[in-house]
Amino acid sequence: MSNLKAIILAAGKGTRMKSELPKVLHKIYDRCAIDYVCDACEGAGIDNINIIVGHKAEQIVEHVKKRNENIKFCYQEQQLGTGHAVMQAKNNINDDDIVLVINGDQPLISSKTIKSMISFCKQGNYGGVVLSGIVDFPGSLGRVIRDDNGNLNRIVEKKDCNEDEEKIKEVNIGVYCFKGKLLKESFDKLDDNNAQNEYYITDIPMHIKNAGYSFGVCAIADMSEFQGINSREELSLATCTLLNKTRKLHMANGVTLIDPANTYISIDAKIGRDTIIYPGTNIQGETEIGQNCIIGPNSHIISSKIGNNVTIETSKVTESTIGDYCKIGPFAHIRPNCNISKKCKVGSFAETKNITLGENSKVPHLIYAGDSDIGKNVEIACGVITANMNINWEKNKTVIEDGAFIGCNSTLLAPVKIGKDAIVGAGSVITEDVPQNALGIARQKQVVKENYKKN
Ligand code: UD1
Ligand code: CA
Repeated sequence: MSNLKAIILAAGKGTRMKSELPKVLHKIYDRCAIDYVCDACEGAGIDNINIIVGHKAEQIVEHVKKRNENIKFCYQEQQLGTGHAVMQAKNNINDDDIVLVINGDQPLISSKTIKSMISFCKQGNYGGVVLSGIVDFPGSLGRVIRDDNGNLNRIVEKKDCNEDEEKIKEVNIGVYCFKGKLLKESFDKLDDNNAQNEYYITDIPMHIKNAGYSFGVCAIADMSEFQGINSREELSLATCTLLNKTRKLHMANGVTLIDPANTYISIDAKIGRDTIIYPGTNIQGETEIGQNCIIGPNSHIISSKIGNNVTIETSKVTESTIGDYCKIGPFAHIRPNCNISKKCKVGSFAETKNITLGENSKVPHLIYAGDSDIGKNVEIACGVITANMNINWEKNKTVIEDGAFIGCNSTLLAPVKIGKDAIVGAGSVITEDVPQNALGIARQKQVVKENYKKN
């Protein structure tokens, strides 16, 4: 579908958000609004995407490029309206293109809706198509006025409506498709002769009709996709709608959510059957959780891979992997780049960062383990610290081999290696390697002074 193109309008100031951040960079749960719009276009098979940027353009460009560097940008220096915005992409439009134009502040529109709109446009051989929906309170939205054949007569912006037009409940959702040639030819005809003195995209259909083509109206199938984000309140409504959809999807797939309204799951997450999620849990990014897990209450999992039969109670896990049958928490903090093998325990007030933990090893309480390779069947007792940073702020590695036992309240001053089946005596500060099967103990010998207390 090489002649399909998308233009996303994202140059506006978003005044009603009352924010320093451009509107399309506001988050709908864990991703920015513009990400969802790009996803919807890509999901509909459109790989030629152009974003119109203006207000705080650099921030939007920087964000989008990280996600997909093939997306192109057109600059709208002055925000003179949605029609003026789309004009900025003129040089990227070819005559035989089908051009989808979508408001960047419509993040819930699905790729399915875009696809059906494009086929509606092609099948009806329309000069273009606008997506419409029926609402009880049309408010500030553009009114869709149909002709006797059910096609578009014109779109009238709220501020330009007469009394009768204002009552119309069929509104413009802010998604259009156009034949490239007709779209380009309409640009010269646009003017700002209206209540807001702006160049409206909503006048383009009228010019295409005047050129002798009919303009279709495609009714949206799922009204829940129609939630713009013009204000913080609308942003929260969009977030709520999206989260509800995701919750329903997981429940339909066999996941138990004890209190769905109090469970937050990214649309990118995958969760296996018979996993139970307790309230206050946030699952973000491309997280994968296996079957039969118990997650929460109050756990926060970000871009991580969790195996089957894992328990994660009141803990945070970021960009890490956790094997089957592990028990995490309560109150564990697994920071990025940890690879925890199966049947491990990372317990209360244990913090790990950039470690590998071999099968059946335990980091059960009050522990900091960073930059460490820890083998199988290792037991790390309460209060142990891997002191990974030296006075030059350099990070060093700790190696603890299979079967080792590290006694309570010990500090392992990296770089250091504890050999296979070795033991570190409680309260030691270990600065030198402890060989296989050895006992390393580094603390002052106890002194007992008899009859020390004078009565
Ligand atoms: C627009 C429609 C309205 C429709 C509604 C649906 C127009 C004139 N009106 O109104 O019929 O019912 O969307 O949500 O189009 N933008 C630019 N450059 C500009 C102005 C806006 O890029 O100069 C971008 C904004 O960043 C935004 C999008 O266009 O993403 C829509 O602009 P907005 O001002 O929100 O239009 P609405 O008033 O919502
Ligand atoms: Ca809007």
